Amino acid sequence: MVIDTFSRSKAFLRSDHVNSRVVTHSYRAASALAAGALALVFWTSSMTIALGQGVANRPASGDELKPLFASSADIADGEHLAQTSCSQCHGGGGVSVLGGVPSLAGQRPSYIFRELRAYASGARKDSTMYNAVKFLSSDALIKVAAYYGGLDPAPPAAAIDVKGDVDPMQAGKAATAACAGCHGENGISKMPGAPNLVGQNPKYLVAAMTAYKGGDRKNDTMKAMIAPVADASMNAIAMYFALQNPKHPPAAAPGSAAKGQALAAACASCHGAQGNSSVPTTPSLAGQDPQYLAAALHGYKDGSRGNATMKGIAGGLDDAAITNLAAYFAGLQAQQANVQKPLTVAQLAERCDRCHGVNGNSTDVARPALAAQRLDYLLKSLNAYRSGARKSPEMAAMSGILTDDDVKNISAFYAHQKAKSVVYVTIQAEK
Ligand code: HEC
Ligand code: HEC
Ligand code: HEC
Ligand code: HEC
Repeated sequence: MVIDTFSRSKAFLRSDHVNSRVVTHSYRAASALAAGALALVFWTSSMTIALGQGVANRPASGDELKPLFASSADIADGEHLAQTSCSQCHGGGGVSVLGGVPSLAGQRPSYIFRELRAYASGARKDSTMYNAVKFLSSDALIKVAAYYGGLDPAPPAAAIDVKGDVDPMQAGKAATAACAGCHGENGISKMPGAPNLVGQNPKYLVAAMTAYKGGDRKNDTMKAMIAPVADASMNAIAMYFALQNPKHPPAAAPGSAAKGQALAAACASCHGAQGNSSVPTTPSLAGQDPQYLAAALHGYKDGSRGNATMKGIAGGLDDAAITNLAAYFAGLQAQQANVQKPLTVAQLAERCDRCHGVNGNSTDVARPALAAQRLDYLLKSLNAYRSGARKSPEMAAMSGILTDDDVKNISAFYAHQKAKSVVYVTIQAEK
C-alpha cells in the first residue's frame, strides 16, 4: 500500500542505508496501518532541515528507524503491551486524561522509541517511566512505539484562546495606565520627586515593585499602587517601561553638576561610567529626576530606605554632595535597557516550527510533534529543559530565551493546534 504520490525514483531506503537522509511526509490514509503498510520514508535533498539556531540536525538513524518498519503483527503486539502496561496512564488510544502524562497517539514513532530508550537508560530521568520500561526489550519498545505512532492524535485542547499576534508589550502598556499620572505614559516622570522608569532594567523594576508590595521598601503611595498588581503584570509593566524611548530633556536641578561629576567616580563601578548600569539589579541613574535622586540618597543615609551597600556610600555624603551628585546624574543621557523586545506568540512559534513542523506537526520521525499535546505536559517539559532537569542541547538553547510568560503562551498555543498524523511508507531504493 502506497500513499505517497511523489517521485519514487528519487526515494530510497534500504536496510543498509537507514541512516541516510530521511524526510517523512504527512498524508494519512486511515486504513494504512491496518493494512500494515508502514514506513515510508522518502528522500529529499534538503534533509538537513534549516534549524532555528543553526544547530545541525541529527537525523534518526539505525535502530531509531525500526518502528517505521513494523509489520501489522508487530503493531498488534505493541497494542497488547500498551493495553497491559501503558494505557492506565497514557489513556485508551494514547490520549492521556491524567495531569503531567503526555498523550502518545500519533506521536512520531522514532521519537517515542528514542525517549523510551532514554528512560530505560536513565538518560531521561523519570522514575515512573523508568519502572514502566526497565524490563522491556528493545523489540517491545519498537513495537509499542509503532503502535502509538500510528494512532489518531488527540483533539486540540478546548477553551483556550491564544491570539498569536498580540504584541506582548500591549499588556504592559494597558497595565501602566494607573502609573502614568506620576511616572508619565512612557516612564518619563511628570511629577518632580517621582522617578523616571524608562531605561531601567526590568529586573530592577520588578524587584522595586516587589519590595514596595512586601513592605521591604517603604512608601505608602507605591505600596497602594502596587498592591493590586499581579506578578505577571509586574513583568509586563517592567518590560514596557524598560523599552520605551529614554531620550528626554533633563529636569532642572539645583546644585553643581561639575562638582557632582568629581564625586561620581565612586559610583561608576556599579552604576556605569555614564550612569547607565549594566548590572540588571543595579539601577541606572542617568537622566533620573534630580529630586528623586537626592531623596533616595537621603533615604539610604538616614536608613528610611534599606540597603547596606548604599547606606555605606550615602553615609559619607553631606547635603551639598548629594545635591551636586543629583544634578550631575540628572544631566546625563539615559539609555535603553539592554533587553530583547519580547516576541509575539506567532514569532516564537515560527522559530519552534522550524524543528517541530508547521503548528507543531513535526514531519521528522525523531522530533516530537507538539500539536494538541496536553498543556500541563508542555509546560512541564519546557520548564524541565529550562532548569536543565531534562537534557537536550537543542531545547536547552531554545528554552533559554523563553520568559515565564512565553512558556505559558507557547504551550497554550501548541496545546490548541490541530494535530495531524503521519504515515510513513517505504519506497524502494533507486538502483
Ligand atoms: C504509571 C504511569 C505511567 C505508565 C504505566 C507509563 N507511563 Fe509513560 N509517562 C508517564 C509520565 C508521568 C510521563 C512524563 C514523564 C516525564 O515528564 O519525563 C510519561 C512519558 C512517556 C513518554 C515520553 C513522551 C514524550 O512526549 O516525550 C513516552 C514515550 C511514554 N511515556 C511511553 C510509555 C509506554 C510505551 C508505556 C508502557 C510500556 C508507558 N509510557 C507507561 C506515565 C506513565
Ligand atoms: C501618585 C504618584 C505615583 C503613582 C500613581 C505611581 N507611582 Fe511609582 N513612584 C512614585 C514615587 C513618589 C516613587 C518614589 C518612592 C520612593 O521614594 O521609594 C515611585 C517609585 C516607583 C518605583 C521605583 C523606581 C526606582 O527607581 O527605584 C517603581 C518601579 C514604580 N514607582 C512603579 C510604579 C508603577 C508600576 C505604578 C503604576 C502601577 C506606579 N509606580 C504608580 C509615585 C507614583
Ligand atoms: C557597590 C555598588 C554600588 C556603588 C559603588 C554605588 N551604588 Fe548606588 N546603588 C547600588 C545598588 C545595588 C542600588 C539598588 C539598591 C536598592 O535596591 O535600594 C543602588 C541604588 C542607588 C540609588 C537609588 C536609585 C533608584 O532608582 O532608586 C541611587 C540614587 C544611588 N544608588 C546613587 C549612588 C551614588 C551617587 C553612588 C556614588 C556616590 C553610588 N550609588 C554608588 C549599588 C552601588
Ligand atoms: C533546533 C531544533 C528545535 C527547535 C528550534 C525547538 N525544538 Fe523543541 N525539541 C527539539 C528536539 C530535538 C526535542 C526532543 C529532545 C529530547 O529528546 O528531550 C524537542 C522537544 C521539545 C518538547 C518536548 C516534547 C515532548 O513530547 O516531550 C517541547 C515541549 C518542545 N520541544 C517545545 C519547543 C518550543 C516551544 C520551541 C520554540 C520556543 C522549540 N521546542 C524549538 C528540537 C527543537
